Amino acid sequence: MNEALGSNITRTLPALILSCFCSLSTANSFNTYDATPWEICGLCHGIDGQSVMSKFPMLAGQKAVYIERQLRAFNSGLRMNDGGQMASISGEIQKDQYPVVAAYFSNKSPAFSPSAVESTVDQIEQGQQIYEGLGASGKSCASCHSDAEANAPWLDMQHFDYLVKQLSDFRTGRRSELKESTPHSVITNTQAEAIAHYASSRRIRP
Ligand code: HEC
Ligand code: HEC
Repeated sequence: MNEALGSNITRTLPALILSCFCSLSTANSFNTYDATPWEICGLCHGIDGQSVMSKFPMLAGQKAVYIERQLRAFNSGLRMNDGGQMASISGEIQKDQYPVVAAYFSNKSPAFSPSAVESTVDQIEQGQQIYEGLGASGKSCASCHSDAEANAPWLDMQHFDYLVKQLSDFRTGRRSELKESTPHSVITNTQAEAIAHYASSRRIRP
């Protein structure tokens, strides 16, 4: 990591993280000069990609292609539903480090969310039906959110609140689709919650 990177982050990170990290006595006490890029990500997403707070998505075990693509999307302004945090951070690390951090988090083991909501059997079954059924596009969620499509993220073991927020952001247009043919904007809030109960409580990836 070079010095320019360290000093940039020292300027911009404190404001971003001050409100989230009570364990750091002050944000300035975190020495970013010696930090690896993934340690910077770890401040919000957890050093193993297993984030504690549901506003920060789990990255552990996520597809590397997907992580890298989202970094580029935040950086170029194609994805803007992050409250500005990723837009800023993605500019703080060198672009040649994107594949490095993507591989780092992708190689970590996924974990269930510590903020998991309680899901009833009915809610999970309802979510599974939607997830496996054929939607308006004639394709099931499961068919893309699988090994088949590197750009479609794993949804299992992701935070409940994060999943509901993403589907709401797709519906309202706050998060634009990077690929036009995806069917997210028609998913209602009730369906989104059912799907989030199913996905967040299940380990469905191979
Ligand atoms: C200051 C906190 C913060 C830091 C530091 C941070 N992120 Fe994020 N990250 C966020 C937030 C907030 C979101 C998106 C929330 C949303 O869409 O609602 C996010 C989203 C993401 C996503 C999208 C995940 C998905 O499932 O779509 C990826 C990938 C990501 N971050 C990677 C990284 C990487 C790699 C780093 C380090 C270079 C990093 N983040 C550093 C706060 C942070
Ligand atoms: C045609 C393939 C396809 C189908 C079918 C599909 N998705 Fe997706 N999904 C994607 C892709 C690709 C992305 C990444 C979008 C992006 O990069 O903007 C995505 C992103 C998402 C996200 C955001 C996850 C995150 O980590 O930020 C959620 C949630 C989601 N899809 C849920 C669903 C649900 C629920 C269904 C079924 C009702 C579904 N998807 C059907 C391809 C698909």
